[in-house]
Amino acid sequence: MSVALAERKKEDRELQLSRIIEALGAKSIVLIGLMGAGKTAVGKRLGAKLDLPFVDADKEIEQAAGQSITEIFAEHGETYFRQGERKVIARLLEAGPQVLATGGGAYMTAETRTTIKERGISIWLRAELPVLLHRVKRRNHRPLLTGRDNEQVMRNLMAERYPIYAEADIIVESRDVPHEVIVKETIDALAAKLDCQNTGPWAPRSDKVI
Ligand code: S3P
Repeated sequence: MSVALAERKKEDRELQLSRIIEALGAKSIVLIGLMGAGKTAVGKRLGAKLDLPFVDADKEIEQAAGQSITEIFAEHGETYFRQGERKVIARLLEAGPQVLATGGGAYMTAETRTTIKERGISIWLRAELPVLLHRVKRRNHRPLLTGRDNEQVMRNLMAERYPIYAEADIIVESRDVPHEVIVKETIDALAAKLDCQNTGPWAPRSDKVI
């Protein structure tokens, strides 16, 4: 690729990113999906590309509670955790624009879904069971999985949650490829959804404005 071509492509990408930021206004990009879908890994990189703060809802809940999620589940139970999760996410969504990664169960709370629809653009990182299982087995900090048959739990959660996650504004297929690939696909999907496609001279033909 010539230097001039590379330079033009870079300019087009930058234009695409600035159009996304402009179209977002005060809305947040909200990542949803099951444990292991890559919300944190993708969210951090997406935030860096768009020059937006990355916020992890689970970390914020832990900070607000002064306890780890494992401790909250063990001492107070899941219902209490969900109440805190709902409140913390409502508070965080007042502060857009940002990239917000939510815990896997957050979008299942109807009130949280409504707030996300009002104040954000939701992206479901959808993944198949083997991808999720492979990723969650690497760490042991998730109370819904600890001491349980991970495959069975994940199958149940997929059956229960995927029809609801499908309400998201954008769906991106998360899979075993470098995170940067998923980030690029997410940016292209955002541009399409927010109607700020790359229309520069190096855009795919169908997008070109002549
Ligand atoms: C949960 C997912 C976790 C965390 C909590 C409950 C869930 O977050 O919020 O353990 O219900 O799926 P991640 O999806 O970031 O692992």
